Amino acid sequence: MADGSRGPKTVAALLLAAGSGERLGAGVPKAFAELAGVSLLVRSLRTLRSSLSVGPIVIVVPEGWLSEAGRVTADSGIAGEVGIVKGGSTRRDSVARGLEALHSHHDAILCHDAARPLASVDLVDRVTERLWASRRGPAGAAEGADGVVPIVPSRDTIKRVRGGWVVETIPREELGLVQTPQAFRAEALREAHARAPSGEAASDDAVLLEAAGFRVAVVDGERSNLKVTTEEDLRMAEHILGTGGGILWSSRS
Ligand code: CTP
Ligand code: MG
Repeated sequence: MADGSRGPKTVAALLLAAGSGERLGAGVPKAFAELAGVSLLVRSLRTLRSSLSVGPIVIVVPEGWLSEAGRVTADSGIAGEVGIVKGGSTRRDSVARGLEALHSHHDAILCHDAARPLASVDLVDRVTERLWASRRGPAGAAEGADGVVPIVPSRDTIKRVRGGWVVETIPREELGLVQTPQAFRAEALREAHARAPSGEAASDDAVLLEAAGFRVAVVDGERSNLKVTTEEDLRMAEHILGTGGGILWSSRS
């Protein structure tokens, strides 16, 4: 059941594109590298813009890349409110800068990595919708989520390895691989960032909410929503674009 206690919810998005892309080694920051002729940045931007749930978008880019980001954004013809700001030295710092740049009030903030250019508009909508949905907990009380992350279950057996030896096999039933876009109640995201000890690394935002005691719910992610880290991932993404025919692999498969 949707939370209808107030008027329509407003959602802003942060597009995290300020990494250097060292492991990809494209000679440009990863977000500016191209996948089948279109940069990862523009692909992610189009996806966010195509979601009717998303209002303003702030793109966070590396120092020295503001004007190039402005140029590719203008060339892509993407409409609506799009701001571009300089990121920080870690992803967490980049999110913090993006949050500072979002002046106006929004009910929710979506964080998406430019490194995931194949996320679908449907996934953007689903993480956002889940944020407003209420669920009945074990005691029958309605439980709202402070954050929502897409998860795909691990199909592989996972082992802890140390110094070339298997230490243990980790039961995988409760393990999931987390993706972006992730949706957060704006206040919870800001508070989680403010409360986390400075210098504490965070490879996603949900981890900061978890540490602060907020409730993070999950929705089904998409196997096709891979994270481009190395050259091999780019080839894999090209393959998905070329052979997928727009059919997304669901995590239920
Ligand atoms: N990111 C960011 N600011 C940083 C570091 C990362 O906005 N200081 C963003 C990246 O642009 C990317 C996402 O966070 O969209 C996930 O980071 P990752 O995949 O590690 O990208 P890079 O840091 O660019 O890659 P590498 O670690 O290989 O340098
Ligand atoms: Mg990185």
